[in-house]
Amino acid sequence: MSTSTDHDPSRIVLSGMRSTGRIHLGNYFGAIKNWVELQDQYPCYFFAADWHALTTDYADPSKVASNTIEAVADWIAAGIDPERCVLFVQSMVPEHAELHLLLSMATPLGWLERVPTYKDQMQQIENKDLTTYGFLGYPVLQTADIIIYRAHYVPVGADQVAHLEISREITRRFNNFYGEVFPEPKPLLTKTPKVPGLDGRKMSKSYGNGIGLTDSPEVIRQKCMQMFTDEQRLRKSDPGRPEVCNLYRFHELISDGETQERVARECRAAEIGCVQDKRLLGDLMVDYLAPFRQRREELMRDQDTLMDILVEGSVKARERASETMDLVRSAMRLDYRRVQVEVGAAQ
Ligand code: TRP
Repeated sequence: MSTSTDHDPSRIVLSGMRSTGRIHLGNYFGAIKNWVELQDQYPCYFFAADWHALTTDYADPSKVASNTIEAVADWIAAGIDPERCVLFVQSMVPEHAELHLLLSMATPLGWLERVPTYKDQMQQIENKDLTTYGFLGYPVLQTADIIIYRAHYVPVGADQVAHLEISREITRRFNNFYGEVFPEPKPLLTKTPKVPGLDGRKMSKSYGNGIGLTDSPEVIRQKCMQMFTDEQRLRKSDPGRPEVCNLYRFHELISDGETQERVARECRAAEIGCVQDKRLLGDLMVDYLAPFRQRREELMRDQDTLMDILVEGSVKARERASETMDLVRSAMRLDYRRVQVEVGAAQ
């Protein structure tokens, strides 16, 4: 396991996120904020996994493209800087698909069926048929995403560690069969806070309990008013318990130390009521998120530029990916294609 303290600038960092639209605070504190910090420590590749979004949205892919734009706009608003990292879209780098196919040939089914998230998600997502080839192969595509950049570190949340483990197994198998082409990717686990949703369950798009990173001030305030608090505190005169209060978790995320301390004290002493505290948090949250929202608005004023950024990033990503594919083809003795077959070349 690696921590972010042993920065070696020759190591490559890669991470991605399924692009399912605008991001919420859980995505921000759980991943993106960490990516932003890594940009100055390693060469970084960050991408929108739009093909992975199809594992659940295959029946209606009409929103995948717009969801990808929405997601990436939020990432940039959050501080992902296309000048300091390679920011790209998975489907704009078709080499991922070629490597995925080659890896799939050598990946035993049992490995995939064993991945804990596989059965879990099958059971949890009831309204979609996930008995597909693509869904079972999710970790194989994810492996291709990583090793096509010969990446060393993959910053992920604890929920992705099982995927990373199978990526390491697939990588070892490749290296055993065909020769050492790939470094074994390691998870880069940084401590990230657990972000609850408005209702105290994990913040998640599918639960509809999130605060969007770029929600409008009205929406943010309204969501803060809906937030669950200490359920045993029925009246303002009851002393509250910040340690079990869902709302207080948000103070811990966004409020300064002094405010946290004051709110905790006044809540315990029944000097501040939950409604008052929701209002206070609403104001603080609006201020906290204002710069993100402003950057996003600027960005969305000129969507062509945003598209240019993604294309430019994808071109850079492709340079490294196609270099890797040359190594792969040669390792697998598939390099009789030295003469490139180009579309439209036949007269
Ligand atoms: N599985 C990741 C998620 O759910 C997305 C992802 C796809 C990814 N490919 C990856 C993450 C490669 C890290 C590395 O968000």
